[in-house]
Formats: sequence, structure tokens, C-alpha cells
Amino acid sequence: MKKSVSYPVYCILFSLLTTLSCQNKNNKPTSEQKWWKEAVVYQIYPRSFKDSDGDGVGDLKGIISKLDYIKSLGVDAVWLNPIYSSPNDDNGYDVSDYRNIMKDFGTMTDFDSLLSGLHKRGIKLVMDFVLNHSSDEHEWFKQSKSSRTNPYRDYYHWWNADRPKPAPRYSLFDVNHDAWKYDSASNAYYLHYFSKKQPDLNWENPKVRKEIFDMMKFWADKGIDGFRLDAFQFAAKDTSFPAFPKGYEQDFVKYYAMGPHLHDYLKEMNKEIFSKYDVMSVAEGAGNSFEDAHNLVDEDRKELGMAYAFEAVDIAKQSGYSLLHFKEVFSKWDSVFAQKGWLAIFLANHDQARLVSRFGNDSAAFREPSSKMLTTFLMTMRGTPYYYNGDELGMTNAGFTDIKQYKDMATLNEYQNQKNIGGDLPSFMKIIQFSCRDNGRTPFQWNNTANAGFTTGVPWLSINSNYATINQEAQEKDPNSVLNYFRKAVKLRKDNPVLVYGKYTLLEKNDPNVYAYVRELDGRKLLIILNFTSRRVSTNLGMYINRARKIALGNYTTPSTDGTLQPYEAVVYEL
Ligand code: NOJ
Repeated sequence: MKKSVSYPVYCILFSLLTTLSCQNKNNKPTSEQKWWKEAVVYQIYPRSFKDSDGDGVGDLKGIISKLDYIKSLGVDAVWLNPIYSSPNDDNGYDVSDYRNIMKDFGTMTDFDSLLSGLHKRGIKLVMDFVLNHSSDEHEWFKQSKSSRTNPYRDYYHWWNADRPKPAPRYSLFDVNHDAWKYDSASNAYYLHYFSKKQPDLNWENPKVRKEIFDMMKFWADKGIDGFRLDAFQFAAKDTSFPAFPKGYEQDFVKYYAMGPHLHDYLKEMNKEIFSKYDVMSVAEGAGNSFEDAHNLVDEDRKELGMAYAFEAVDIAKQSGYSLLHFKEVFSKWDSVFAQKGWLAIFLANHDQARLVSRFGNDSAAFREPSSKMLTTFLMTMRGTPYYYNGDELGMTNAGFTDIKQYKDMATLNEYQNQKNIGGDLPSFMKIIQFSCRDNGRTPFQWNNTANAGFTTGVPWLSINSNYATINQEAQEKDPNSVLNYFRKAVKLRKDNPVLVYGKYTLLEKNDPNVYAYVRELDGRKLLIILNFTSRRVSTNLGMYINRARKIALGNYTTPSTDGTLQPYEAVVYEL
């Protein structure tokens, strides 16, 4: 297959941001404690969660009908993917009106009911703000493209075509990966890092910043509790558009992220919004280095709250991944943020294939224990856990075999690109079967009735064929289900501040099969032992286990007590 940087590589990208958690020698947190550090964030992909009106697309009323379920999980906050008006080129990440609700999803009245329904249940709402680009159907862009002298011209990045062609820019989603799209109306190219229907906004223009901040205020005044800033690390650009070295597209984040004045824009945003409301703020992507990540979330700088870094989520490959590498990445990020700053902890989201299929084992024998083991990991690390809807059931990859089953524009465009360049399509199909983000977007499996109880119509994306066995209703009845284990793990975290603020110490660093660590705060110690393999393995952890006072959580009814672990076994001991 010809080498192509493309959708799978895109999956290997982004990251987020937070505030301070300093600890003194007694491992007590000394920085201000914040609700969003202590929260478990549950991510809902609205298109796939629950359809209330039979059009095959999930909607706000659907989410409202499931509020008691969400409450029952024990989570503190919901992150909703974009719900604003959109022509849906990229499922809402192409916004045509930031102050209105997408028709497929309902109305502003539905939104208000959703927000009050969440708040009534003590759950916060984090909204997704798409600020690097808008839709080409946004009024600003319509104006902007109409003529070179239109007052909105500088809301976007244009390059007049009477000049020599601009230096190439890589587009993540374009069929040809060309981020400059020619538009004949004004004989000029506009910039789009994502699809050609997602023109990049010109953050260098103070009018754009003002429009965006006003729009953010509009939502903050409605009472939302948090902002997730989509692709924000790419927002600032050197508008002279200098040439990048040959091959830059293989590592384009290095050239696109943290452009000039990005920190100034965040400081402005903080002053206008974050400092005025009790909100969490997290941007997708944490730059290119620990220094970048720190600079985004250092409290003294007054920018963002929490860092969402992609290094860990990108580890899983079709060929597998090395646990040693996994441990190294998580340990490194933890140590760099141990004294200052705050991290998001996650292994899945709407841009990834399913958690259990990528990081665990989705075979019939091991789906349940490996899902539970991964949940144990996510709920016992320092940082704020983000948990993607459906993973609490151990939902798996879709198993699509035909390109017609996929709906993701980025994947379909890359398929076309592979066709155009004579790529190896069978290999491409295998790659997307493992990594395409549609795997994580198949509708939520509520029960074993038609369409898994998601819709009475035709679902916008096929339901996973395993819904008859993997569904919420069945798992409610089973005290040992993946779902009920998730609830226990969330409760364990909520009951134990040590799991939020406590010091993290890695044990048996060189064990390739087992991830073990101690969390410690104010004299309280928890030991977490996770077998990442499908084999029974022995460990050198016997001496720690002997000291354990009790088992706080385990994914087997008869947990190991002698340091030998069952396949994908997870145990949390109190020391
Ligand atoms: C990142 C979002 O998570 C992804 O879903 C989207 O396609 C791109 N940004 C473009 O907005």
C-alpha cells in the first residue's frame, strides 16, 4: 500500500488541558481542589445515543429520556459532542450557526430541558466548541467568499490566486490532502485544515475573536459548566504561510500546533470567559512537548484548566501494543504533571475505535474481563477520567467489511484518495476495520429489540450485530456485568480522593504483562494490579499483596491473593 498520511494517522493525533495539583511531602494536595479534577466525565455522542423521533438519528430528547440512566452511572459531568446547527459534513464539527441547535437534534427548548435535567441530577454539562473552523455554510463564510472586499473577508484565510500558489498545507480530511481550496467567486484559495466544508477561521482578526467570545458567553450565561475546545491547538497561524520542509505532513502537528499568539488568544479567552464562570476548560491537543502542555494549563498563566494529550491513546495499533510502552507513557505524563498542571485520562473517544477492541480483547472469552480491567485502569489513575458512551457496556468495533457501511467523511475521502493513487484497498479496508472512528460511533445498544432500542427508524449508522447479547438492559440484570462493574469503579474513585489527588508510584516497571502502581494520599494507600494479557501470569508483587488489608475492587469473583493473576485480572487492594 502506498504510504499515505491520512485518517488512521489523524486518529493518532490530538490532546487536552487543566490546573494545579501540588502535593507536599505528605502527599496532600496543596493546590485548590476543583470539581472538575474530582469529576468523572462521561462523553455522549448525541447522534448515536438515543433517537426519540424515529428519524434514525440520536437527539436531545433521546438523551433526556436517558438521564436517569446517566445518573445511575455515578458520573459527574457529561461532555456532549457538538449539537449546533450544521450541514453535517463532519457530524456537527462544521458549525453553520453557533447559537442554534442542529435540526436533527431538536430545539433550544430541548437543550434548556436537557441542561436543567442534568443539573437537577447534580450532573454538569461540558459543551464542545468548534473554534478552529466553521462550516462553509456559516453566514460569515458565505459573506467572506462573496468578494475580496466583503467586510467578512478576513474572517477566514484567503490567498488571492493572482499571486503565485501558496506554500502547500496538508488537509487531514480532504480527498487530495490539499488544504487550499480554489474558489472562483473571488479567484482565491481558502484554507481548510479539515474538510473543504470546514474553512479555518482567522483568529488573527480581533473581530473573529470577539464574535467567538460573545458566542461562548451566550452558552456560559445559559449555565453550562465547561468548554472543550475542538482542534484549538491549530487555531493560530503564521499568515504569511511560509513553506514547510519536505515531508512535513508526516509530522504536521509539529508545524500546525501552537502557532504564534495561541497563548495570547487563550489568555484573552480566559479573561473574557473562564475567569468569570465556574467552568472547566480543556482543549483538544497539548502541543508538541511537555513544555507546551504545561504552558497551556499552568494556573499562573491563566489559560486553560486541563491538558488532553494524545500520546497514550495513539499507542494501540492493529498489530497490538507494548505494555512497557503504555506504562512508560502514562508514567512519564504523570510525573511531569505531578507538581503542577492537570491531565485528562482517557483511552477512547468519538475519534477512536472501541476501547475494548483497541486496548483490550474483544473475543467472547475476554471481552468482559478486559473491559473491566481497562475501566479499573481509567478510574484509578491521577487526572480526570473521560469515559466514552458504550464503553461501559464493553461495546466492540463494528466489524464492517464494505466501504458502503462507513459514514465518516474522513474515511470515505481517504478511500477515494487511495483509489485515486492506486493504493492497496484491501489493506486500507483492514486498517479502517480496526481503527476507523465509525467503530466507536455505532448506536448505543440499549436492549435486544429491533435496532437495539436505539431507534424505531433506520439508524444513520448500522447497529453492531452483537447487540442481542451486548446491551444495557441485559447488563442491568447481571450484578457482574461490565456495566455494573463500571458503576463500582466510579464509586470507588468517588469514595477515595486518593485516586484523584494521590501520588502515583509505578511498581515492576519492566514487567511486560502487568501494570501495577500505588496511589497514596495522607496515609491512605491503594495498590492497583492489572494483567494486560489473556494468560495467567505470575508477578513479583506477592510481598505487597501480603501486606494488603483488603480488596477494594476486583473483576473476578475469586480474586488472586498470591500474586498470580488470571487473564485480564484487575485488583485494587487497600494497603
Ligand atoms: C477533532 C474532533 O474530535 C473530530 O471529531 C473532528 O472531526 C475534528 N476535530 C474537526 O473538527
